Amino acid sequence: MSRSRLIIAIDGPAASGKSTTARLVAERLGYVYIDTGAMYRALTYAALRAGVDPGDQVRMERLADECVIELHLDDERRLRVFLNGRDVSGDIRTPEVTANVSMVSAYAGVRRRLVELQRNIGAGGGIVMDGRDIGTVVFPDADVKIFMVADIRARAERRKAELHTLGNDVTLTGLALQLEERDRLDSTRDVSPLRKADDAVEIDTSSLSIEEQVERVVGLALERAGE
Ligand code: CDP
Repeated sequence: MSRSRLIIAIDGPAASGKSTTARLVAERLGYVYIDTGAMYRALTYAALRAGVDPGDQVRMERLADECVIELHLDDERRLRVFLNGRDVSGDIRTPEVTANVSMVSAYAGVRRRLVELQRNIGAGGGIVMDGRDIGTVVFPDADVKIFMVADIRARAERRKAELHTLGNDVTLTGLALQLEERDRLDSTRDVSPLRKADDAVEIDTSSLSIEEQVERVVGLALERAGE
């Protein structure tokens, strides 16, 4: 076995099934799950809360240097996001944060800071990290790279179900438009745009069950660990 504590990178567009899959794969393998989107969301929330304009690149980059963003597992092994010591896991999923996060994540200074943090957390391996640039920029030598996609209808339906449990009321069409707009911004930015790494395995989750998605990734990881 060449390496037992792998780095597994899962990238892809919004609501394609990355987070759920990454969390369950980590559970199966006894690895740590790292949701990098939650970090960009936490910084966006920090700005909105402090009255900093997310459109102000200089102030946002300074805020990225000042904020302490941490990820911890709670007693039920759910991932919680902390901003300056406060649990903001619920606050980072509001429509206001979602509407501004792609603008914030496009700034070079913001990415430099958060990518550094992500590399520090993941360097030892035994991690499943999901985001937009994990296999291309954060860990270009990751042992397993997945690019997860799904058709827009499936993605909007999944996000609607998630938001429903959070108490938000939104239409399917409205959600689909928001997801597509975020994907457009994430794929066309200058720094680390969302794209499939050349050596990533694409998984289309449109008609897969969560168990099937997890099985596919775990299978690739075990294959890789056995090499
Ligand atoms: O809504 P969803 O869970 O699909 O998105 P997320 O993973 O929470 O990421 C929110 C936003 O953060 C994305 O739309 C990107 O703008 C940004 N992001 C990024 O730029 N790079 C990452 N590695 C992860 C997220």
